[in-house]
Amino acid sequence: MTGPSRIPPVPLLELRDVSAGYGPFRAIFDVSLEIAEGKVLALLGSNGAGKTTIARIASGLVRPTSGEVFFEGVRIDKFRAYRIARLGIVHAPEGRSVFASLSVEENLVLSFRREFGRRGASAALDRAYELFPRLGERRKQVAGTLSGGEQRMLSLARVLVHPPRLLIADELSLGLAPIIIDEVYRNLAAVRDAGTTLLLVEQYVGHALQIADEVAVLTKGTVAFRGPTDDLGDLSEWLLPTPG
Ligand SMILES: Nc1ncnc2c1ncn2[C@@H]1O[C@H](COP(=O)(O)OP(=O)(O)OP(=O)(O)O)[C@@H](O)[C@H]1O
Ligand SMILES: [Mg+2]
Repeated sequence: MTGPSRIPPVPLLELRDVSAGYGPFRAIFDVSLEIAEGKVLALLGSNGAGKTTIARIASGLVRPTSGEVFFEGVRIDKFRAYRIARLGIVHAPEGRSVFASLSVEENLVLSFRREFGRRGASAALDRAYELFPRLGERRKQVAGTLSGGEQRMLSLARVLVHPPRLLIADELSLGLAPIIIDEVYRNLAAVRDAGTTLLLVEQYVGHALQIADEVAVLTKGTVAFRGPTDDLGDLSEWLLPTPG
């Protein structure tokens, strides 16, 4: 006997035949992707493949020229970025985004006060130092003098203290020491366990594949592979191992 037929749940994020570019230049071609709620999708590919463009589309920073984007079944490709952010989509962009002349603590307090108010900020600060003890050790240091990896931790701490519904993280591990990547990925696994869905954009495959449920490999703006991480097999022609 068969059980009652089940309707598969709506993906948290879905791109359907999306193309986009910059001016006359087309960066991605008919890309279709989806991520189920609570899952981790690793979006892999070499330089210029279109990974960041897809991240920007999901967060409303780039408008598709054709195709559709859905968040929980709601079409969002015409939404402005601030409206998408309000749905609980956070885009942690490539590189660093800290106030260089403020201390670590001032950076955190500034962002937590805005988000949680004066009272909530202090608890959020404790949580940030719990996530990244190194930031606690360096709380008085001017953020501009932190190492690249520490600055990345600082930007990430602001996001992870209050995990979003969907976190889009672009090249988190790029240029980071392995020990720092481990720490960052431990925290990502923790927010995933707490219910956050992750879209991890990475050029290097090592860490992302350890946590990813599904993988999409982009090559020259098109999806060359999409499926469960276990089915990836040997696609080394497209993938770069983590250096070191
Ligand atoms: N603002 C822009 N203006 C013009 N072209 C752009 C812009 N941003 C990206 N591109 C082009 O779009 C293509 C895809 O870029 P994208 O940044 O999405 O690649 P990526 O996969 O993230 O690469 P990387 O691994 O180097 O970060 C590239 O050819 C790039 O030069
Ligand atoms: Mg990129």
